[in-house]
Amino acid sequence: MSNQPQLEKLNLEMSACTKCILRATCQRVVFGSGNPEAKIIFIGEAPGKKEDELGIPFMGSTGRILDKMLEGIVIKREDVYLTNLCKCRPPENRDPLPEEINVCSYWLEKQIQIINPKIIVTLGRYALNYFLPDTKISQVHGEITELKIPKIGNQKLFPLHHPAAARINRKTRAIFTQDFQKIPNILNQIKKD
Ligand code: URA
Repeated sequence: MSNQPQLEKLNLEMSACTKCILRATCQRVVFGSGNPEAKIIFIGEAPGKKEDELGIPFMGSTGRILDKMLEGIVIKREDVYLTNLCKCRPPENRDPLPEEINVCSYWLEKQIQIINPKIIVTLGRYALNYFLPDTKISQVHGEITELKIPKIGNQKLFPLHHPAAARINRKTRAIFTQDFQKIPNILNQIKKD
């Protein structure tokens, strides 16, 4: 059975969310996009201006970096699932606050339960620290960590730098590209296991 109807139902519930103050200042809740049966889910930080306008994650200049990386490993955006830790744009693109992450993670948890991906790719430190608090991205990027997530179960976490950081820093871009290129091998390995 397709995961689409469950995601649609969740999207409806999420659209009415007022659990934190972000909904009052953003234009819309940015649920997520892509394949409801995806093997990989990419989790960013929060929607920016463009995402808030369009209701789709990773649509601005940062999204273009992600698109380029996906193109490089011959995976289509439509084949993966893209979402964020926080579903509403923080004003002036400020960082999400701990209490906003705390309440919004309820939705992320539901999305992961429904999609049940083979790999969770976190983009940047906010998404990483949701799963692995107090972990430095510089120490764990590009390596699979096996996790037992409460209410979700066993998952493979693959932490990457945030594409926005890769956009502005040449060294980070090189690391991000190198890590990203490991994804096809990881998928192949999972298929064999
Ligand atoms: N756009 C998103 O949807 N998420 C980010 O983390 C950054 C840009």
